[in-house]
This record gives sequence, C-alpha cells and structure tokens, in this order.
Amino acid sequence: MNKIIFHGHSFTELHLKGNKILIDPFISGNPLCDISLDNADCDFIILTHGHGDHFGDTIDIAKNNNATVIATAELAYYLKGKDITAHDMNLGGSHGFPFGKVKLTLAHHSSSLPDGTYAGEPAGVLIDSDGKMIYHAGDTALFYDMKLIGEMHRIDYALLPIGDNYTMGIDDAVKAAEFLNAETIIPIHYNTFEVIRADVDEFRRKIESIGKKCIALLPGNSIEI
Ligand code: NI
Ligand code: MN
Repeated sequence: MNKIIFHGHSFTELHLKGNKILIDPFISGNPLCDISLDNADCDFIILTHGHGDHFGDTIDIAKNNNATVIATAELAYYLKGKDITAHDMNLGGSHGFPFGKVKLTLAHHSSSLPDGTYAGEPAGVLIDSDGKMIYHAGDTALFYDMKLIGEMHRIDYALLPIGDNYTMGIDDAVKAAEFLNAETIIPIHYNTFEVIRADVDEFRRKIESIGKKCIALLPGNSIEI
C-alpha cells in the first residue's frame, strides 16, 4: 500500500509500488524525528538541497541500505565521490525509477553542504507514482512559477514549508497552495527549532478557507494514498 509518513522537519518517507523512499532524511540533530538511524530503511533517498537539515544522515543511511540517492548534479557527484550510488539530475528534468517518475522543479533558496562545498541549485521534487502526484517543495520562497507547476501537473499532495525565516511562512504557503492548485496540503519545516515556530491551526484554517484540504501530520504519522 502506498503511503506518506512524516518524520519531522522536512523528512518524509514514501512507500510507493513496494519501494521505500526517504526525502531529506534529517535524523541526527532533529528534535522532532521519531526514528533512529538504525531504523532508517530505504531503497532510495531524494535530496532537495545540501543544507544540513535536509542532507542530514544521507551518507550513513545510503551506506547502511545500499540505497541510491537522487539529487541535483553537484550533490550527486559529491556523494559518488564518497562511494555512494547516486543518480544525478537537474532542474526541469524528469526520470523514471522503479517507484515512479521524479521531476526536479525550481526552488528559490540556496544550497551548500555542511562542510561548505557548493551544492548547486536547490530543488523541489514532483513524484508521479501509481496515479498520484506528490510535490515536496524543499526549502523555498513563494514564487509565481508555482502556478506553472500547478498548470502542468495535477498535484494530489503538496508538502509545503510554513516555518518562515528560512522559507515561506504561513501566508506565503497559502498563496503557494493556491498557485499549485494542489488538492491536499501537508505542512513541513516548522516547529523543529524556535526560529521556525508556526501556528499550524492558523495554517489549516487559511488552507480550508481557500477550499483545500490540510493534513498536518505529527512525526510518525502517515496517510495512505
Ligand atoms: Ni535550506
Ligand atoms: Mn531547511
């Protein structure tokens, strides 16, 4: 059965067509994360960008599971240099994997690795699997081309950052939901740290007021899709 499981911050686990995919697996140093490194089990890892709160424990998890990391070219080459299997892509490109088709989208943010290495452009991720379209926005500001993403793809689930300071805050994320025309919005990237505290009930009310559904998952919670 296909699922979306939230592990706190932006860390999201997908079960799609019998594959386990981890997006932005931030475990060490993530006060909200409900799983330990030993329990991080996957076939693929998808990274939106290189920042520590997204790159997280990618190296250990990829090695422990012999998983393939899907990321932008610079991040993928960095990982290949550490003997990790990686599939390099870039913005606007899509590729088919056993679990579905992945397309990297724009994200307005920055990207470097925890050791300071330049990590290319940050990305959002569209995953088309089993008739469902999932969009994980990564870290991003609101941008008008989200409208284009919504026009080109019928999005069922959009995971959008709402924590402000580093990314969109609540009002910008509500506008993003409108632009994307996604059916269900799942808030991410909030309440992990004091500086990104957000009132998720306020977000839910505002999303519902534009006629969309909001599912705020607690770490460890999942939905069947
Ligand atoms: Ni970031
Ligand atoms: Mn972040």
